[in-house]
Amino acid sequence: MVGQDRGCHLPMTRRDLLLASASSTVAAAGVGAAPSTSAPAARAVNVPTAQVTLVVNGQTHTLALDTRTTLLDALRELLQLTGPKKGCDHGQCGACTVILDGRRINSCLTLAVMHPGAKVTTIEGLGTPAHLHPLQDAFIKHDGYQCGYCTPGQICSAVGMLDELAQGIPSHVSADLAGKPLLSIDELRERMSGNICRCGAYSNIVEAIAEVAGGGVA
Ligand code: FES
Ligand code: FES
Repeated sequence: MVGQDRGCHLPMTRRDLLLASASSTVAAAGVGAAPSTSAPAARAVNVPTAQVTLVVNGQTHTLALDTRTTLLDALRELLQLTGPKKGCDHGQCGACTVILDGRRINSCLTLAVMHPGAKVTTIEGLGTPAHLHPLQDAFIKHDGYQCGYCTPGQICSAVGMLDELAQGIPSHVSADLAGKPLLSIDELRERMSGNICRCGAYSNIVEAIAEVAGGGVA
């Protein structure tokens, strides 16, 4: 009992003390309090804006946006292209991968205003339900997804990755930096390592990409 310590005889039990501290915490948080009428009015904020033109999936868009808008947010929030996904917003999962001027990029890590006039391809621009991209076809055939959240990024990344292979750009596992990289499972896995699949569909994803890559991937 709190009131019994060191000869103190306050008529307060442990239960009384807990109740008192709980009610003072609620009061401090303002729960149940009437809204303050003396709160200062919100100050007007000068948001830096800019105009940028992007060619997205073949269509030209001129956007007036907050200069801090990422390419991912511009695509999703302003153009309503929800194929690119916001998985981590920190460049760690690859769900937001799109193709920008022919190269794959994490669209959450770059600002839209950094790319005036750029050509952007999202999953919506790769194929249509009636005319799927070969990689979309292969992902369906090989069951390369479960929830599908990572799939648009996986497919855009695979498109960019196969193009890098075709150009002879080496990866971390390429044995010969000067020679043409081998089309191997190790190369595919390494080059796709920036795209995380929380469902763990990796082996099927690699099978799908290997089929499209052709050339006897081993
Ligand atoms: S949302 Fe861009 S890398 Fe995860
Ligand atoms: S299919 Fe679910 S995260 Fe990849």
